[in-house]
Amino acid sequence: MGLTLQALVLVASATRVFASCAHGTFLSPRAEGGTVEVKTFGYSGTICPNIGMQGPLNWAALEAPANSVCATGTKQSPIDMVDGVFTVIPGTDVQITVNDMPDGAEFENLGTTVEVITQGGTLDVGGKQFELQQFHFHLPSEHLDNGTSQAMEMHMVWQSAAQELAVIGVYIAIADAVPPAAPAPAKRDNKILCSRLNRRQEAVPPPPPPTTAAAVPPTTLLETIFSVVDQIAVPGTKVTTPPLAMGEVVDVLRAGAFQVYDGSLTTPPCSEGVAWHVSTARLGVAPATLARARDVIGFNSRYPQNAPGQPNILMISAMGSAVAAIVDVAAPGA
Ligand SMILES: *[C@@H]1O[C@H](CO)[C@@H](O)[C@H](O)[C@H]1NC(C)=O
Repeated sequence: MGLTLQALVLVASATRVFASCAHGTFLSPRAEGGTVEVKTFGYSGTICPNIGMQGPLNWAALEAPANSVCATGTKQSPIDMVDGVFTVIPGTDVQITVNDMPDGAEFENLGTTVEVITQGGTLDVGGKQFELQQFHFHLPSEHLDNGTSQAMEMHMVWQSAAQELAVIGVYIAIADAVPPAAPAPAKRDNKILCSRLNRRQEAVPPPPPPTTAAAVPPTTLLETIFSVVDQIAVPGTKVTTPPLAMGEVVDVLRAGAFQVYDGSLTTPPCSEGVAWHVSTARLGVAPATLARARDVIGFNSRYPQNAPGQPNILMISAMGSAVAAIVDVAAPGA
């Protein structure tokens, strides 16, 4: 149906749109001279002069044809990581090294995300080697963990010599704010009192402390990075972080497993062929730190896409509108 794409490209404009998730890769080389490029796409329905609606429903139109695959691609990211559907490889089967940054790292506000410029690292997986370019954050998570969004998601972007892209996605959960509470006092029900009396003060074992699957400590790397996020509250600004030690995150990733799938960048130009590795492990962020990050990031999560190989949701939607229009013409007033 020729109608569908035209409908999607209605608000086309020639405005240059840069790729955030691909920043620092061949798709969006970093600018020389140390300036921070502010992206012109967005996540809301805001309509800007000469740009059009900035949000993900309109990314294809923001720069045609470069971004067309955002609306037509059938292997788009993010997606719902439905349990049991994806190939899972143990973290120990993936070789990851990330250089520490003892002098700190450049931390930039691109308008669409906050990003740490890394200083080297390698990912060896499936017989291919990739170099770490940067990592950045989405709030809330872009992938869904078996249907559930998480507080944030960190994307580590890697590029091979042959210009292939791999991204490690790792969920960031809200960490326990305070040390685990002391065990609750034993219930004073009559049975226990009676048995105590009968058994001469036999000790009642305390109930085990409550635990949840999501319990995760704050990750020092994240606490360190976001301790300075309020210094880059304005898009286009940057700051040098305190020293960053990367072993902690590498250890967390190695202890988990990776759900792998063939997807895309989650930002324009939505290029496909991205080797996604979504970790089953979690990083943690203290509640106050999450609030600080949220005050700067706001919201930067693309809506979940159709399952890999299925038609693009925007195509389905456009078809539905076209069918509705035809039905309307065929049966006016029906
Ligand atoms: C994943 O979600 C489905 C549907 O909600 C649920 O039945 C299943 O138990 C979940 N799996 C895990 C491991 O949580």
